[in-house]
Amino acid sequence: MVKIKQKYDVTIIGSGLSGSTCAIRCAQLGLKTLCIDNLLSSDSNKVDPGIFSNPGSLSTIALLESAKIYESILNEINLHGIYVDNLMLNLSQMIQRKDSVINSINQNLTKQFNNYKIDFIHAKSKILNSSTIEIIAPTSLKYKYINSEHIVLATESIPISISCAPIDNEFILDSIASFDITEVPKRLAILGAGVIGLEIAGIWNRMGAETILLDAQETFLGLTDHQISREAYQIFTAQGLELRLGTRIISTKVSNKKVMIEYQDSYGTHAIRVDKLIVASGRKPNSDHIAAPEANLLLDENGFIHINDIYRTNLPNVYAIGDLTLLGPMLAHKGIAEGVFVAEQISGIQSSPIDYGKMPNVIYTEPEIAWVGQTEQTIKAMGDQVNIGVYPINRNPKGIATNKINGLIKIISCVKSDSILGIHIIANNASELIAEATLAMEFSANSEDIKNTIHPYPSLVDSLRDAINSIIEKH
Ligand code: NAI
Repeated sequence: MVKIKQKYDVTIIGSGLSGSTCAIRCAQLGLKTLCIDNLLSSDSNKVDPGIFSNPGSLSTIALLESAKIYESILNEINLHGIYVDNLMLNLSQMIQRKDSVINSINQNLTKQFNNYKIDFIHAKSKILNSSTIEIIAPTSLKYKYINSEHIVLATESIPISISCAPIDNEFILDSIASFDITEVPKRLAILGAGVIGLEIAGIWNRMGAETILLDAQETFLGLTDHQISREAYQIFTAQGLELRLGTRIISTKVSNKKVMIEYQDSYGTHAIRVDKLIVASGRKPNSDHIAAPEANLLLDENGFIHINDIYRTNLPNVYAIGDLTLLGPMLAHKGIAEGVFVAEQISGIQSSPIDYGKMPNVIYTEPEIAWVGQTEQTIKAMGDQVNIGVYPINRNPKGIATNKINGLIKIISCVKSDSILGIHIIANNASELIAEATLAMEFSANSEDIKNTIHPYPSLVDSLRDAINSIIEKH
């Protein structure tokens, strides 16, 4: 039996990254904290019970790492004068490793909850009003109703389903189930060539699956800087991904252990037969039944919860963070920042507002894509004059030495003030390289500041200076 109290200073519903971070910060600030999660994803019974953080992005990183090692032994290792006989791929071992990565991260989280004396219950719950939470199941808990002075909603998001591609998680899978496929599909289709679709495609393509991405949009990665999306298109198609854009799925049918997909594009109607179809067509807020109707929590027609500038909902002392709100992109680090901010608000600390314009974005492909600030197309649409510096990674000495030569770094600065307006990277380890760019923007750096910063040689990050130099040398 879980020992819970009936009254808390703060109760957080959802123990994903936003919720668990918020709970830890609340407890650090001396608040009596409870976190409740019904562990939506734990029906994958392979994860140990405990505080459960969403496994999506970590599964991607863990499996992509395995896939990259496999690919480099297949295609690259002979360049180093190393020869391997009898190479074999044991997919179940790879998946076991991924599960143990997630388990160890969850166990670390459980330890932190214990250290900070945060109470945690596995239960489905909903708010009844601005200070009462009903525990719906399991019913064996000591209290059915919890009283909490503050409530933070952090149940994140769930995949959007498409009626013509019903998920069975055997042949038509959602993104989470796709991390547990037990045999490399010969032919794989992915519905959605957005962030999740591309990340998953890079894993299975490297393991040998013929991988076809179908996307309704005509433009590839429309939200990224267009020079970066053009570069990404070239790199990914050269890696073997088949990108079929401007396609509308008409129907799917599972028969004889294959999925038949019928789709339309500007040339007409087509059909493909694949071993698996993964649906990665976007995510929606996980807000269904989060509050009883009589609580009158205000949501928009898509399920996003209305909040004010300090993340407070229309109910006093009830906050919503992470993917539940329309503020900023659906990114884990956005939710983490909001979790800390709300914990500090509740404790009476007036922290600086989160600057969404200086929040890094990352797509965990190989090469990775990362950016901070504005794209060239958005700045130009506003009529502003910009300087642009671009440096191709195939000129970077460390890139050459390590055979990681794909991609480029692009810096956009303001002609008038010389301040940096956007930094866009497609490169190996872009998720790490973007940290310096983010810090530069946080401190309102201009071109000279980056030029004068001494970078290690050789290093990939030195290309940031090279990109700046290509702006400065034009003047
Ligand atoms: P997304 O919006 O990036 O991509 C979904 C794609 O599916 C779109 O390009 C859309 O045109 C296409 N699509 C939707 N319905 C379709 C249909 N019926 N037929 C054909 N194509 C269709 O969404 P995604 O990849 O599912 O990611 C969801 C959210 O999660 C995003 O906001 C993303 O930023 C976030 N996320 C971020 C990660 C990161 O930072 N690395 C990792 C995972 C998710």
